[in-house]
Amino acid sequence: MPTNTREQVCNFGAGPAALPTEVLEQVRDDLLSYAGTGMSVMEVSHRSAVYEQLQADAETALRTLLGIPAHYSILFLQGGASQQFAMVPMNLLPPDGQAGYVLTGSWSEKAMQEAQAFGRARIAGSSKDIGYRQIPMDDELDFSLDDAYVHITTNNTIVGSQWHRVPEIPRSIPLVADMSSDICSRPVDVSRFRLIYAGAQKNLGPAGVTLVICDAPWLERAAANREIPTIFRYGVHVKARSTYNTPPTFAVYVVGLVAQWMLKQGGLAEMERRNRAKAGMVYTAIDDSDGFYEGVVEPTSRSSMNVTFRLRTPALEAAFLERARAVGLVGLAGHRSVGGIRVSLYNAVPLAWCERLCAFMDDFRRKPDALSD
Ligand SMILES: Cc1ncc(COP(=O)(O)O)c(C=O)c1O
Repeated sequence: MPTNTREQVCNFGAGPAALPTEVLEQVRDDLLSYAGTGMSVMEVSHRSAVYEQLQADAETALRTLLGIPAHYSILFLQGGASQQFAMVPMNLLPPDGQAGYVLTGSWSEKAMQEAQAFGRARIAGSSKDIGYRQIPMDDELDFSLDDAYVHITTNNTIVGSQWHRVPEIPRSIPLVADMSSDICSRPVDVSRFRLIYAGAQKNLGPAGVTLVICDAPWLERAAANREIPTIFRYGVHVKARSTYNTPPTFAVYVVGLVAQWMLKQGGLAEMERRNRAKAGMVYTAIDDSDGFYEGVVEPTSRSSMNVTFRLRTPALEAAFLERARAVGLVGLAGHRSVGGIRVSLYNAVPLAWCERLCAFMDDFRRKPDALSD
């Protein structure tokens, strides 16, 4: 069994991922007795005033951070982003209608596959033929005024690409976005999207809660005419303010603390500044390596959240990962479907970890055959 302390480890995992130490310290302090209740958050009823306040505080912090318009609802749901892959078309794709999906990676493919069970889900742009190494240009998008919505994945966690613009499509076509791996990493114009969803376990908190931000009046107007189990109806959750059934109370509490932490740090403009600095440092280490490290994604589409690169052979990649682990740099293996190296740089990852990583990358490049201790 490993015996590392928190100070020794730099966690570059893709999710569940690093959380700010200050937040975890607050969680530790609150764990046995939250806000003078003599009970843990985990032990408090979701119908109690204490929980109501805690959830309201989390909502307020997220509203401030993201500049969420007043008529948008914030929902704390379960089932992960994968459940949203199904809930979006169930609620919003009429049985005889169509929706456009821009394919930029495996997660967007999965989202589209789910939609195909409910109506016509068509490809509204794709970079699959080039291994998803680039985000499609606006003139490569194929949207239609008949689309009930167009779905994009703003950050592609596996390949390591990211949209650096909102696609130029007419405002009358509703945009839906999976922001699981870059929500709150930079400012975003929420009003350009009718619905945004994100699993919390990368930038927002622990696994177990999924954030949904939606234009509630539009949702009501756009609701597809089909029978849906109650638990999967957005309208039910909007009306019940996420407490139709028991919400993941502890996860919501941590998301609230993380949102307050982001505000204290200077908000999303500051998160973006830090994330650019961190990613820039790692991309420079790749680009200055004389081809020893090779970035997977075209520079214009590179993600500031998940930096992906390859080494010459799988054996060299395995040696890289093993030696990195030995010096406390963990979570660097690429997604199991693609291999390679992936450095996830979510908000809680400090610049100092990137400095350690880049020093290691330099050292490994010079002495790839050295054995780890
Ligand atoms: C962009 C994106 N969408 C969806 C998912 C699936 O999320 P979940 O495991 O919460 O269902 C992930 C998971 O990593 C992701 O990165």
